[in-house]
Amino acid sequence: MDTNSGFVGFGAGKVILLGEHSVVYGYPALAGPLSRGVTARGEPSNKCQLVIPDALMPEQRKVLKAAFSRAMAACDEPGVKVTFNTDLPLSMGLGSSGALSVACARVLLQAAGRKGSPSEVASVAWEMEQEFHGTPSGVDHTTSTMEQLILYRRKPGAETGRAKVVESPKPVRLVVVMAGARSPTKMTVGALRERQKRWAERYQRIFREIGLLASEGAEAVEEGDLEGLGDVMNVNHGLLAALGLSSPGLDDMVHRLRSMGALGAKLTGAGGDGGAVIGLFHDTEPAVHELTRLGYRCFDSQLAGPRSEGARGAA
Ligand code: MEV
Repeated sequence: MDTNSGFVGFGAGKVILLGEHSVVYGYPALAGPLSRGVTARGEPSNKCQLVIPDALMPEQRKVLKAAFSRAMAACDEPGVKVTFNTDLPLSMGLGSSGALSVACARVLLQAAGRKGSPSEVASVAWEMEQEFHGTPSGVDHTTSTMEQLILYRRKPGAETGRAKVVESPKPVRLVVVMAGARSPTKMTVGALRERQKRWAERYQRIFREIGLLASEGAEAVEEGDLEGLGDVMNVNHGLLAALGLSSPGLDDMVHRLRSMGALGAKLTGAGGDGGAVIGLFHDTEPAVHELTRLGYRCFDSQLAGPRSEGARGAA
């Protein structure tokens, strides 16, 4: 413990490049970390507690309290008072709850005098994620814990998922744009589950195809084939739209990014009536400049690959 600052834990936000939603049904997804995320701080206290920001709505407070209770039970309730702050756009599909789960897990494990290995962090964060999302695949908190581009898969019924690190010989640079507010992930995932139950064979076909795209995208990354990766992203967006997970605002932004020269563009995360859209670019700067000028909230991020000297880090 640092005597000046107490315990500190960071959880990275994430971007799903390919395979959201189908990952819930056991197919692979390709996801990478953002350098933005949630920082939790802990100071010794006579009881284990989380300070919940006043701005949160009663329902959000209730869920957060329940999630933290599960994490603190998993760490034998160490005496620590935890606060947090974030530089990640919230409720946009960028993994804020996974990042919060990982940040809290890191602080609780430090306070409990435990080593905090990646598997320990992931297991405590998983407790929180289940409270936030109901039936999460685990891709969010795993990406946040590993902080690398991964091909993630959790087979149906498996206790935990498996993640393979995907190395890239070229920088994988994205523009991330906020395209309107969206409903909670739990609702979007739940509504899709109802459609999937009703028309199981049709929906499984699409999930299977998206899973194949995620694996093809990982191969394209490893081969440095950014045009190929961009094409897979475009096809994935089409299939997400077919599953009823896009909206006019998300589709407009996807087309806008393509018209700005994106090699590929798609919604990322749960989607639904809004959320974030990603575009893959050789050079992100002109698009970020233009989108900012037009009044959009956006940033760029390098998810994988070599970083050039003096280049801006991932946002
Ligand atoms: C949410 O970031 C990604 C989803 O696939 C849900 C999940 O994987 O748990 C929509």
